Amino acid sequence: MTPEVRDILAGMPAHRRETFELRLEQWWPDLHDAVTALYDGPDAVAANLVAIAAQGFAERSDDLHRLDERRLLQPDWFQRPNMFGYACYVDRYGTTLEGVGERLDHLVDLGVTYLHMMPLLTPREGDNDGGYAVKDFYSVRPDLGTNEDLRNLATTLRARGISPVVDLVLNHVAREHEWAEKARGGDERYRSYFHIYPDRETPDSFERTLPEVFPDFAPGSFTLDTELDEWVWTTFNAWQWDLNWSNPAVLEEFAGIVMHLANLGIEVLRLDAIAFLWKRLGTNCQNQPEVHAITQALRTTCRLAAPATLFKAEAIVGPRDLMPYLGLGRHTGRVSDIAYHNSLMVHIWSMLASGSSELAVHALASLPPTPPSGTWVTYVRCHDDIGWAIDDGDAAARGVTGAGHRHFLADWYSGDFDGSWAEGLVFQYNPDTGDRRISGTSAALSGLGPSRKDADGAFARMFLAHAIVAAWGGIPVVWSGDEIASPGDPNWASEPGHENDNRWVHRPRVTDEDRARRLQQGTDAQRAFDGIAHIARVRRGLPMLHSEAPVQVLTDTEDGLLVLVRRHPSGTLVGVFNVTSEHRAFPYDRLLELGLTDPHEVLSGHSVVLHDGRVWLPPYAAWWMV
Ligand code: GLC
Repeated sequence: MTPEVRDILAGMPAHRRETFELRLEQWWPDLHDAVTALYDGPDAVAANLVAIAAQGFAERSDDLHRLDERRLLQPDWFQRPNMFGYACYVDRYGTTLEGVGERLDHLVDLGVTYLHMMPLLTPREGDNDGGYAVKDFYSVRPDLGTNEDLRNLATTLRARGISPVVDLVLNHVAREHEWAEKARGGDERYRSYFHIYPDRETPDSFERTLPEVFPDFAPGSFTLDTELDEWVWTTFNAWQWDLNWSNPAVLEEFAGIVMHLANLGIEVLRLDAIAFLWKRLGTNCQNQPEVHAITQALRTTCRLAAPATLFKAEAIVGPRDLMPYLGLGRHTGRVSDIAYHNSLMVHIWSMLASGSSELAVHALASLPPTPPSGTWVTYVRCHDDIGWAIDDGDAAARGVTGAGHRHFLADWYSGDFDGSWAEGLVFQYNPDTGDRRISGTSAALSGLGPSRKDADGAFARMFLAHAIVAAWGGIPVVWSGDEIASPGDPNWASEPGHENDNRWVHRPRVTDEDRARRLQQGTDAQRAFDGIAHIARVRRGLPMLHSEAPVQVLTDTEDGLLVLVRRHPSGTLVGVFNVTSEHRAFPYDRLLELGLTDPHEVLSGHSVVLHDGRVWLPPYAAWWMV
């Protein structure tokens, strides 16, 4: 420990100082390795990070120190089958942070143990990409409350067994953030926080290999800033300035922000758009190896002060690039603990539209197993659009073209395909590639949109989808509105700043009336809520759904069935899912071979009935057999 760190910890009781010392002993190599992979002069950077961690540790409350101890004793807490998530916007769910705290019964009844509150730090005024253009990381959006309110809510959530999750936007800040203001004022220190170019030469060379994120409302990845009269890297919107992570000062700033959020009692930090952090000429500037070193540096700093805090990678990338976010090779156990399972989500919708499971089985079975320290967030849909991330290789292996299947899915979910029940909206049509992403709630995409094209089928498809994500392993997260089968917000475009961004259609408000409706028998809200709550309840009693039980996708099953096997010392669970609108059979012998001598379907509570040596699954049936 340096004298500086000793000074910071001087006022603490001896056992606390010792704790920090032990953690430093344990995790110093991780920190040093990570910064060595990133910067010249790593010793000084690592020392600064330790000082930031020591400061955070010294300021951490007794309650949270206790949480740290508890989590260190239960390192698998987030992998357990009782984990069940919900994601919402504070204002759209409870008006304010305090209001959310007063409306927790709805979540507790749903089985929620993990609450992702969408961006709530102070954003820029006007359009701010749903809060992803942060103006100040150290304050809460004023209309939602204060830091104290956030701390209080986190404390209340903890007491009710719910882990609070918030976003940490690492790739960019709002053009109105102090750092960007100072950069525009000519301050060299802050200019070096961004990627600023005098002319188009460098931007042009990068753009040769950069994909478009928002081709429709924010084409290109650079913006000519009128005040600077220079080009600024803006991967997303013109007013979201990408940060220059090759500057260690940026890392140190974020280490401080991580401490601040962890000390408010946030238990999981969602690392927004993490794939984009490191820029390298001649690449698509995503998934560069340095991204994982940056994560390791931040994660280790956080561990020293607040080991209870987990990291979740929002990397919406191809399956092969995804696994390193959970830690591969030298980063194993040192980066994010949780990552989004985008592929599973895409393949669920793909199976439902095509009534075929072949492509999904092929793609999902070839995913490598997750490292033991990590797990997934699994979800039916999220606050973003659905991009049809069908891998060309996977498609070719099943005899279709990637582009052809992606077009089919866009047609199907926008309701343009004959026989489609879906009512999604096209998001970000890209004329160069023909890609069309899709917005819509689960209900709207399942047949329960504004014109209720196929209500009964929709419920079956929604439960099937939820039952698959809940069987997969990880933390299943329900996006606000889906638990009450919201068809979407019909007035999404009338809010200032939202008119061009139809992702707002699937970010509906959940009001007190909605919450009351889920208690009224026979309403869509009641049907959806009770069904999802039932899945969560059954799940928490099944040790085979702990993340430590690997997920095996059977590859030799009949088309139309997705079959997952979860083997655990306590027994085996076989999930059989019929993605078609017809009956499908599964051989009984196969269940015996898998170790189920007296199969019991736990979602319905029934024993399975045999016909001709097979079990017959009704259309869209979801069976969890133990
Ligand atoms: C993430 C968010 C998305 C946002 C983008 C830029 O992908 O989920 O909503 O637009 O990052 O911050």
